[in-house]
Amino acid sequence: MKQTTIAVLSNSGGAGKSTLVRNLAYELDRSGLQVALLDLDPQHNLDLFCGLDVEIPMIDTIVGMLGEKYDRDWHLVPVPNEKNIHVCRGHLGMAELQNEFVARRGSEHILANKLKKKPLGHDVILIDCPATLGKICENAVVAADYVLIPLILQDKALTGLDGLLNWLKYLSDDLNLQPAPQVLGIVPYAYNEKSQTHRQCMEQLKFVAARARLRMFETIDNSLEIMNANGNGLAIGKFRPVHKTVEQFRNVCQQLLQTIG
Ligand SMILES: Nc1ncnc2c1ncn2[C@@H]1O[C@H](COP(=O)(O)OP(=O)(O)OP(=O)(O)O)[C@@H](O)[C@H]1O
Ligand SMILES: [Mg+2]
Repeated sequence: MKQTTIAVLSNSGGAGKSTLVRNLAYELDRSGLQVALLDLDPQHNLDLFCGLDVEIPMIDTIVGMLGEKYDRDWHLVPVPNEKNIHVCRGHLGMAELQNEFVARRGSEHILANKLKKKPLGHDVILIDCPATLGKICENAVVAADYVLIPLILQDKALTGLDGLLNWLKYLSDDLNLQPAPQVLGIVPYAYNEKSQTHRQCMEQLKFVAARARLRMFETIDNSLEIMNANGNGLAIGKFRPVHKTVEQFRNVCQQLLQTIG
């Protein structure tokens, strides 16, 4: 298949971005695809979720890849016990590097240029973004073919979604991105059917998504087991193979593959 780059983006913290990246990678790998994960978040939670606990020098993380000398080769590490998932690890230094981006010309294009100059051979590249919509997320959007949005079901979710869609539109217009990355859709995230707020929010979300012509992906339930899987550095499919959310992540992956062909 043609290489596809997907930025996983939301405009609130703890929305499930890194967990979605981790579990989609697992499902894509199971489907026989090669997956590269780029951790752009200075908090680099993907390290924990992928079971990568040995420190590596900053120069071998995303900071080294996007620093001034960004003609250096990618440094990707394999995710333990997975067939074909490799990660360019995140680092706290990304927060500092983001400040330096401001002084660099065309700094929204640094990641996209890097991927052009030093292409990765993987079928799918998943970009884990930080929650704040700054230069780091701009780089992810410019480099991406698609954007996928996990949306945690809380009262402020819909205003947050509106803000995020506007931000994406203005960014694509301002930078004259051609083509602008397509929003794949929304993954309603951490749903609890016992919560009235969640149920109401889901109804409103269906309406908003239909109006904005956005696909609603399969809903991922709220579950402590996902947190436990993350803490053990595993996808839920490996941690609890028969857990109900395994099927949910699998369905999101299948829906995604249908859309990107
Ligand atoms: N479906 C779920 N049910 C319950 N807890 C979850 C679920 N998915 C993830 N979590 C937990 O919720 C927290 C936030 O998830 P995650 O780190 O994936 O979100 P994020 O959007 O990447 O956050 P950040 O903005 O901080 O990067 C983590 O502690 C994670 O283990
Ligand atoms: Mg995260």
